[in-house]
Formats: sequence, C-alpha cells, structure tokens
Amino acid sequence: MELFDRLERRELERAVLVHVDFHNESDREELDEFYELVDSAGAEICTLLTTKRQTADSKYFIGKGKAEEVKQAVALYEADVVIVNHALSPAQERNLSQLVECQVLDRVGLILDIFAQRARSHEGKLQVELAQLKRMATRLVKGWSHLDRQGGIGARGPGETQLETDRRLVQGRIKQLEAKIERVRKQRDLGRRSRKRSELPTITIVGYTNAGKSTLFNFMTSAGVYAEDRLFATLDSTLRRVHLPGAGPVIFADTVGFIRHIPHDLVTAFRSTLEETSEASLLIHLVDAADVHRDEKMADVYEVIDEVGATDVPQLVVFNKIDLLEPAVDPKIDYDENGVAQRVWLSAQQGLGVDLLMEAVGSFFKGQFIKVKLVLDVAAGKQRAQLYELGTIVEEGFDEQGNSCFTMILSDQEWESIRDWPQLLSTQLIEADLAH
Ligand code: GTP
Repeated sequence: MELFDRLERRELERAVLVHVDFHNESDREELDEFYELVDSAGAEICTLLTTKRQTADSKYFIGKGKAEEVKQAVALYEADVVIVNHALSPAQERNLSQLVECQVLDRVGLILDIFAQRARSHEGKLQVELAQLKRMATRLVKGWSHLDRQGGIGARGPGETQLETDRRLVQGRIKQLEAKIERVRKQRDLGRRSRKRSELPTITIVGYTNAGKSTLFNFMTSAGVYAEDRLFATLDSTLRRVHLPGAGPVIFADTVGFIRHIPHDLVTAFRSTLEETSEASLLIHLVDAADVHRDEKMADVYEVIDEVGATDVPQLVVFNKIDLLEPAVDPKIDYDENGVAQRVWLSAQQGLGVDLLMEAVGSFFKGQFIKVKLVLDVAAGKQRAQLYELGTIVEEGFDEQGNSCFTMILSDQEWESIRDWPQLLSTQLIEADLAH
C-alpha cells in the first residue's frame, strides 16, 4: 500500500486478531475492550488467536510458532489485516508482516485508525494526522514505499535515495501540520478568552468512551451531536449554550472519551481538548452504570482529571443507562449530608431523569441572582429581544419617550453580560443575592 494511502484508509476489512496473555499484570490488555476497538474500527473479525507468554519475543512479538499459526489463519480466512492487541516496535511489526504475508496493525495503529475516522473538528483531524505521520516516520524503511508520485517531477533531490526522499516528504508534511495546528490553537484560545469574558459558567461532561456523553449532550441541548454505539464518537470538545431553568445561561462542553493506554502522540491531542476541563465551573462525570468494569473506568477518569489539573473543580457523578440495570433503579439524585447533589441516576437515551440532572446542575449555581430595574433605549430593538432570552421578566412597561422599562431577575452572569450596554439608559439594583 502506498505511504499516504495508509492515512486515507477508512475501512479495515477482514481481520485476524491476536492477543497475548502476559503473566505480568502491567503488560496486560483487556480482551473485551480489544473486541470493542476492532468493532469501532469497522473490521470484520475472522478469528482470534491467543497465546500465553512471560515476555514479548523480540523478533515477532508473539513468537515464531504463533506467527506461523497466524500465517495459516490469514490464508484460511483470506484476511486483509492482522491486528495485534499490543504496541509493537517498528521492527516487530515489519518482521511479523513479512512472515504472515499480510498487513499488520498493532494496538496503537488501531486506535489511531479509529481516531482518524472519528475526529470531527479541524484541530482533531490535524492532530490525528500528525500522530499518524510521526508514527510512519519511525516505520519508514528502504523499499517499503514510493512517495515520489506525491511530489511529482522534481520532488526528489539530486542523488537522494527513495528512503531519503520519503523521509524528507514526511518531515515536510509534519512541519506543515505542526504550523497549522499552532494557528488553530491560537484561534481556539481567542474563543476561550471571549467565553471567559462573557463569564458564563461552563459545565464540562467527561467520561470513559461509550458512557453516553454525546447522547446526553444531545438530549440536553438538542444540538444534533453525533452519537452511535462505537467508541470515540467525539474527538473534540463541543460547546453549546443552554438556558438552565433557575440558573440562567450556561455552556455545556462535551469532551473526548477516555481510554486506557492511549498512544503517546495522542495524549497531546487529548490534553489540548481537555485543557478546558480545568477551567470548568462544574464537571459532570458520566458513567455507564451497567458496565461491568464501571469502577475501574471511573478510576481511570479520576486519574485523567487529576492529570489535567481539574481536581478542584466541583464534580457531579452521573450514572447513565439505568434502563439496563438489574434490579431496576428509578431516576434520582443522591445528596450528601449538606444537601449538595453528589450523584444523579438517569438514562440519557430514554430521556429519563435528565430533568433531575438539570435540577442538580442548577443547584450548583443557585443563590447568585439579582433583581434589577432597567430602562432600555426605544431604538434598541435587538437588545430588547436579547433581554427576553434572559432570566425572568417580572414587570414590563414604557416611559413617556417610549423607552422600555423592565424589572427582571437575572443571574449574576447574565447581569455581567448586559450591564455595560450603552443602550441601557438607567439601571437600578433592587435586591442582590436573591434566592431563586
Ligand atoms: P465517545 O464519543 O466514544 O466517548 O462516546 P460517548 O460517551 O459520547 O457515548 P455515546 O453518546 O456515543 O453513546 C454510546 C452508546 O450508548 C450509544 O449506542 C448510545 O445509544 C448508548 N446509550 C447512551 N445512553 C444510553 C442509555 O441511557 N441507555 C442505553 N441503553 N444506551 C445508551
């Protein structure tokens, strides 16, 4: 397969899976998660070969005997790819591929492939392509690929070998991508700063992949975020402004799903999309309540929250998929001894208990309301319409010049966002710290 075609590949086809059961706990990978990953990548599973080992074999990773078995399976099932549930060195991947006479993809390559299919934002796409290229750069060997068609006439410098040309093209592309990512990042920082200026509280939804973040986000915001039964449906944080009854406007942010043993280059991509987590006003930690590995996955998420420096942000644990629990659990909120919401039980897909979540989230922002009297210029039609979108209008009238006179209850954030409007002819604070 040509070098850059590998990046374009969207569909894996018939796959022989290989899993090694290592004696050493730290080298172990989960088998059921492997199936989920392969399924997410869209591959058809022909068979699974497993083996037990003390340590990896330096040449073929799985040992020559097992490699021969894989070769037979590839021929028998006419497989297109062998997927190994572990990280292989470039040499191991190459040796195994030569022996089994088939393309070999390791766990890191598999995850990158899924990410390449799932990235939705411009930045996410660039990050994945960069990670793929960096990986490819370590795997370029003589006679492995032919890049000159990419560059056309003159792409190859005088006296360069094919390998040197390939390396130069990949490095050039890496530099280009890095520059692009830097530009996109700057733009995103600007966006984040302007959101901060508007002082709207941000509620960030984090959770293990497949917990149902997009489904919940979707339900709450009717934003049409893509949700399906595949891992990593979201690679970027997605923001939506929502009017929360009793608390005013807030921003909900959906983030990428977490997973164990993430490829190193992607950790950077994750970090940049998760940076905003540490600046959130509230974290919703969404958990698939029906998952048998629920506790381990929650622990993994706590670890990442810690890594991105978000431990001080208040958290609300939300157990999703209660419709799958046995015995059944009704939607509910668990409070701590101070009456602060700690856990919410709901089903995002069925819309059960989402109102309770809104209530629990609203309670985090309570007590920050004011009652205010405003006079708005007669000509400020646009601002008038905006006021209708905010808070609660208690009273409305007109003065003799036709200016609008409102008495409103607003959240602190709403008040901050309008108080400097030049179209406001006068403002009068009637009551602060209002319990709403
Ligand atoms: P990533 O983007 O991969 O991190 O996943 P996510 O956390 O955004 O999960 P997503 O919303 O894509 O949901 C994953 C799967 O779980 C989908 O098939 C959903 O339909 C399903 N799902 C979500 N909520 C519920 C629920 O309350 N009950 C049931 N039974 N299924 C649900």
